[in-house]
Amino acid sequence: MSTLYTHAKLATLAPTSDWGLLDNAALLVQNSRIAWLGAMADWPASRIALGLQADAVLEVDMQGRLITPALIDCHTHLVYVGNRANEFEMRLQGATYEEIARAGGGIKSTVAATRAANDEQLLQSALIRAKSLMAEGVATIEIKSGYGLSELDEARSLRIARKVGQALGITVKTTYLAAHALPPEFADRPDDYISAVCEWLPRLHSEGLVDAVDAFCEGIGFSTAQTRRVFEAAKALGLPVKLHAEQLSDLGGSALAASFGAMSCDHLEHLSASGIAAMKSAGTVAVLLPGAYYFLRETKLPPIQALRDAGVPIAIATDHNPGSSPTLSPLLMLSMACTFFKLTPLEAFAGMTLQASRALGLQDRGTLAVGQRADLAVWNVDHPNQLCYPFGGSHPLYQLIAS
Ligand code: NIG
Ligand code: FE
Repeated sequence: MSTLYTHAKLATLAPTSDWGLLDNAALLVQNSRIAWLGAMADWPASRIALGLQADAVLEVDMQGRLITPALIDCHTHLVYVGNRANEFEMRLQGATYEEIARAGGGIKSTVAATRAANDEQLLQSALIRAKSLMAEGVATIEIKSGYGLSELDEARSLRIARKVGQALGITVKTTYLAAHALPPEFADRPDDYISAVCEWLPRLHSEGLVDAVDAFCEGIGFSTAQTRRVFEAAKALGLPVKLHAEQLSDLGGSALAASFGAMSCDHLEHLSASGIAAMKSAGTVAVLLPGAYYFLRETKLPPIQALRDAGVPIAIATDHNPGSSPTLSPLLMLSMACTFFKLTPLEAFAGMTLQASRALGLQDRGTLAVGQRADLAVWNVDHPNQLCYPFGGSHPLYQLIAS
């Protein structure tokens, strides 16, 4: 059976300079793909041209609602237990994120909690978070490991990430982020830890657990030389890379990542002109994370106009994690991308659809076009700019259709 969504307004995002709005339109889904879209008036002739009998098509009246591509959250750390509300309070009293991390808190405290949890606790908490993202229109989620930091615990996180996708009928892309922090068993031996990270990767990859490889390249994370070793290991397996880069300082991680053809560099508040140029020539997407910018009370903005001028694609994601971005609202991120980063609503929305698909190396989603996956978000709004404008509690999603 084919399904035709009728009387809809479509925001196709297909001409990338514009919302690609189509009023009084219809969209046909066959075998989980978009098989046709166009004006309602053109449907009868198109149905015949497609060789479809009228009774082979189930018609669903959308009553004028807006259909967009489903959202894509291209940067999350969904698999962990616990919270870091205590660190939030410490930061409000003057401690910095870096000081807390250097004192053994930060990522390491979530690693301790996550290692102590059982599989069911980890899975259930990740499912609850993924469902919250879906409630705001997300049908593709990138999930990083990075709170396990041992071979077994990293494998467990990645397996749970895969299970989230299977249980909820959405796409999950997994990212190996063992190079997130130094676990206690490798204290003062970061190079030995990186050797272990590189050794675990082929085994986890052979289990089908890894879609991409990431690292935290930062003063409180890993150096560019260490990151390079992780990227070499990924390259040897043909795995794409991405990087937490230039979040708190400029180590030149973006240029390194770009030299490995990175799919994305993420955060980027301290990105330099040479980093931008390197990203442009490698076709690397800039993933901006307004939640972390807000929650860490950053004052240095990513170089947005320079990224725009250079033609580097800009994506937006939640960066959901317990330490720097405990948000589960992709729509709030769209609003913040506009208010903090001065993206236009179209840039912000394309950043969580079209550009986010590029950041994950996915060509089959992020726009409404024939042949694309029928991952659709149906909204109770008249125009997509209304999705970027309210902040908090607006609940505009009518239906998520995830193929
Ligand atoms: O994307 N910067 C490194 N990773 C996360 C934060 C992780 C944490 O604090 O638990 C981020 O901001
Ligand atoms: Fe992150």
